[in-house]
Amino acid sequence: MADSKISDILVQKGRPGKAEGRNVNMPLEMGSTMVFNTMAEFEAARDARYQSGTIYYGRYGNQATYALEEALCVLDGAESCVLASSGVAAITCTLMALAKSGDHLLVADNIYGNTRNFCETLLVGQGVEVTFFDPMIGAGVAELFQPNTRALMFEAPGSGTFEVPDIPTMAATCKAANVVSVIDATWSTPVFCRPLALGVDVVVASGSKYLNGHSDAMIGTITGNGDILQAIRKVVMTVGDKPGGQEVFLALRGLRTLKMRMEHVDRAGRDIARWLGAQNQTLRVLHPAFECCPGHEYWQRDFTGASGLFGVLFRATSDAAVTRFVDSLSHFGIGVSWGGYESLVLPVTPKRTASNWDVDGHLVRFNIGFDDLDTLKDDLAAALPHLGT
Ligand SMILES: Cc1ncc(COP(=O)(O)O)c(C=O)c1O
Repeated sequence: MADSKISDILVQKGRPGKAEGRNVNMPLEMGSTMVFNTMAEFEAARDARYQSGTIYYGRYGNQATYALEEALCVLDGAESCVLASSGVAAITCTLMALAKSGDHLLVADNIYGNTRNFCETLLVGQGVEVTFFDPMIGAGVAELFQPNTRALMFEAPGSGTFEVPDIPTMAATCKAANVVSVIDATWSTPVFCRPLALGVDVVVASGSKYLNGHSDAMIGTITGNGDILQAIRKVVMTVGDKPGGQEVFLALRGLRTLKMRMEHVDRAGRDIARWLGAQNQTLRVLHPAFECCPGHEYWQRDFTGASGLFGVLFRATSDAAVTRFVDSLSHFGIGVSWGGYESLVLPVTPKRTASNWDVDGHLVRFNIGFDDLDTLKDDLAAALPHLGT
């Protein structure tokens, strides 16, 4: 999609129509019960409650929910979108809709930790067979397909370790075997990657990250087409996992500045990653826009930019030295999540069961926000000696 087109979508979509005296934004819409004048109207709404746009009861959606869903459809190039109460809810509802007892699910070995946890505990407990696979396997994943394989879940780039898989090849291999492909595209947002156009069936994302952008709301998004998305929507509704009015309002507001914020964190993230890469204590930078990152060539082909989240492998004398380094940073907060305006740092220990994570060094993840870059570099420069090398 042309750059200007994304800007237009972000500014125009999911807003009230132009009318004299109306606010430019969707109002904050809170509520549970919606009332009807006649039983006929009520029954029509009840029958259509699983369809986007139906006004029936707050849990199913309201005008603001549907405005955001419509904007996300246009952004992702999807027929349908359904919102969930968090990124994890978006992922778990999607997987519950796709894999039932007796089915087989393939999951990339570098998947986000809570996705792994859900698959290993709840899904397996419900009788779903789960196989983890090497995220860089490409078309070789076909060898892992079984007659009962229903879906494949992967992420680009991988959580914590940042390998970029060959998205179109993974999607095409799944399609050829009638396996539904699902990607967690939280890192790139639709500003930098549109996985549906690359052949993926379903895109899930945590809107708590860049979409909202200010670390003050939890929301998840699911986009895709046809019956698959309708089945997922039904699970979200059945489980009752929709976001509240305030979260929808904040996500709609986040949409307006998403492109500018992504462009900023792309530049800022690369700048800090480059600077860190030049320090004595750094063994390797794990950033999809850097040549040394596995799958960098796929990132170059399939993405138009990089977010501000990346990893660094440090030469450190011990785990305690890494803790001292992290503790001594004053401008980076220590915390999970990312995608807000604030810079964050977190030591990471990847869990692998199907592929090797056999690298030298201590892995630390950085989220670069909107702080002054010199301030961040000064902070890092003062803390790096704590690594003890
Ligand atoms: C890649 C990825 N996907 C999904 C999630 C879950 O999103 P949420 O925190 O909105 O549940 C996270 C959270 O850190 C994440 O990093």
